[in-house]
Amino acid sequence: MKKVKLKKEAEHKIFIGMAILLFLIFGIMGIIKVRKELNYQKTYESKLINYGYTLEEATDLINIFSDQELDSILTITKDSKIINLGNEKYFIFNNLERYLTYLTNNPDISFKDVVALVNVNRDYEFYSHDLVGKNIDASNIIVNKYYILDENYVPDDLVNISLQYAYAGHKIKKEALDAYVSMWHEAKDNGIQLIVNSSYRSYAEQKDIYDSYIIKYGQKKTDEMAARPGYSEHQSGLVIDVFEINNQKTGTFKDSVAYEWLKNNAYKFGFIERYPENKENITGYSFESWHWRYVGKDVAKIIHDEDITYDEYYAYYVENQA
Ligand code: DAL
Ligand code: ZN
Repeated sequence: MKKVKLKKEAEHKIFIGMAILLFLIFGIMGIIKVRKELNYQKTYESKLINYGYTLEEATDLINIFSDQELDSILTITKDSKIINLGNEKYFIFNNLERYLTYLTNNPDISFKDVVALVNVNRDYEFYSHDLVGKNIDASNIIVNKYYILDENYVPDDLVNISLQYAYAGHKIKKEALDAYVSMWHEAKDNGIQLIVNSSYRSYAEQKDIYDSYIIKYGQKKTDEMAARPGYSEHQSGLVIDVFEINNQKTGTFKDSVAYEWLKNNAYKFGFIERYPENKENITGYSFESWHWRYVGKDVAKIIHDEDITYDEYYAYYVENQA
């Protein structure tokens, strides 16, 4: 009898032991599950899904953006187009809300074009949003319909271009002149004789040109062809209007061998075509095959290889950098 009682007691103990063990196992599993859930809630995947993005969109956003950028995305209205924009090569995070507004106002424009246009400030009217660029005295200065130069700004190292290379009375910055002279000789070796017919222009000279155009062509056409004083990069001392000695007409220079040669070679000397064909919407000016801007060899190569305008280059590679 005693043996039976002892066996029952032992069985009872085992049963209780097992019950406690099971309780502990389930308890621990429960705690692990709750902790996992709490940890998941802290992830960007969970936060983005709670914000309205699908799992796939959340994954894309996490792949494209940094944690800091995701925090910021979680403060603006949910919009899947952020993914399309973020995938664009020249996307600038600080411009995100401007891209979205621009897209709302211009729903038929491609993401690529929205990024390009907003980067160069085209969401602001020309001459309505004056900015002062970085590096005023460097070869990567920008001057356009947004970035201005002071009325009194004169580059510090202007030098005369000798008569072999230009008509009388032309000046540009020394660094640009050295590059132009090298380019001139290389062109000459290829049977092309370049000649400069405009270069540094003071604020007052630009004003005279602009005002005379207004009389001749009216406001709208003038603004497509000539910069208002303070907005012309001719004032930077880094620009040459260059033709071939036998072809000096603005209307036909684009069809010349000299222009073709410049297109293929000027960047090797640090010059870029500043107002290319079909980029009028970006640059704000009609195509000018004769207007070449010195930016230095490294910058010119990027612009040439990536086939972008200087305005786009500046937005992404200069202004966007810390
Ligand atoms: N023709 C160019 C745009 C200027 O006036 O500076
Ligand atoms: Zn020019």
